[in-house]
Amino acid sequence: MCEDVPLSAIAGVAGTPLHVYSRSVLRSRVRALDAAFASYPHDLHYAIKANATLAVVREMRAEGAHADANSGGEIDVALRAGFTPDQIVFTGVGKTHDELVRAVTLGMKAINAESPGEMERIDAIARAHSTTARVAVRVNPDVDAGSHPHISTGLRSNKFGMSPAQAHAMVTSMMAREHLRVVGLHVHVGSQITSAEPLRRGAAAIADLAGALAAEGVHLEHLDVGGGLGIPYEPGQTVISADEYAAAVLPVVKPTGLRLILEPGRWITAQAGALLTRVVDLKTQADGRWFVIVDAGMNDLLRPALYNAWHEIEAVEPRDGEPMACDVVGPVCETSDTLGRNRHLPPVEVGDLLVVRDTGAYGSIMASNYNRRPIAAEALVDGADWRVVRRRQTIDDMLQWDE
Ligand code: LLP
Repeated sequence: MCEDVPLSAIAGVAGTPLHVYSRSVLRSRVRALDAAFASYPHDLHYAIKANATLAVVREMRAEGAHADANSGGEIDVALRAGFTPDQIVFTGVGKTHDELVRAVTLGMKAINAESPGEMERIDAIARAHSTTARVAVRVNPDVDAGSHPHISTGLRSNKFGMSPAQAHAMVTSMMAREHLRVVGLHVHVGSQITSAEPLRRGAAAIADLAGALAAEGVHLEHLDVGGGLGIPYEPGQTVISADEYAAAVLPVVKPTGLRLILEPGRWITAQAGALLTRVVDLKTQADGRWFVIVDAGMNDLLRPALYNAWHEIEAVEPRDGEPMACDVVGPVCETSDTLGRNRHLPPVEVGDLLVVRDTGAYGSIMASNYNRRPIAAEALVDGADWRVVRRRQTIDDMLQWDE
């Protein structure tokens, strides 16, 4: 079931592969994170990159969250979902001229600047448009997030932000610029972080810098500690709770007195989503285990192939009998197109429905047309009701850009 609706009923109408989201889980996650930080002035800026489906982003807004956009496209998603520019922070390591012009002229809450060169470009654009740009400076604190190397961002060797010393020197030298207003400091050390210490150290790096700047008479408005809070994907995996996260971050931020911004993505949407897929073939492997071949592949859910990520896989209507030792694989012509290795499923037959769990973050948004496979549909469940919120791409949709 998803809420009060059988998954088999949804798949029967909307087909597979299909991403399904629970509205009540989406909303309760926003509320839970907000409650964890209730003792201190803060804003949750939902990281649109985790799931940019308009219906999902609208749920975030309805729950009172603001937005974190990482590209011009995500700014448009935020605006179409109803956010106002002063509710959007704009991050991104390679913002183009056009994206910066858009952000400056819209008047974002903050453009999170990644380099001195970018600060200069924002200044020039703001001057050319006779406006003042609100910027926050992204600091790279050289902190190991302890997560997969592909999604760690806070090490000196990673492409993100500036060292605290460089950020300090830059803010001091640019404070007097007429068209720039430095309103905050920003940090994001990585994603799927399962312990408190990297998150605390990231926050401490910008809190310390804010303290040093205040001592020089430079007063900011906010500290943006990014996202990164992880979720348990594997049975038995330990993670910190939202309350433990707040307990790690708030004591370092409080002394600054600055408003706190958070940019959570995964923690809000991951567990609100699942991927429904049907078994299309079965065959035995040389070692006696099975290949369970399903109609969802790495183009629908890239995380297992890209990060060797674990997602729980279950039969929607389990049959009785001896469990099958198997690898659950997709139809794409790559060996990395494996959704789950060394699993045990109840006996399955061709046509059975499986559910791949916790795919609400970095699932549908990382889909591609690889193997010319159309992008899957998405459905949102609300109690006993559900509706398709993103229709399945057709072959004609997919080919319409080709000359
Ligand atoms: N803020 C910034 C500046 C970020 O770069 C990110 C994620 C977030 C916030 C949200 O982080 P979260 O709360 O979701 O951890 N595709 C990967 C995850 C990439 C995360 C990129 N940045 C995955 O599937 O695990």
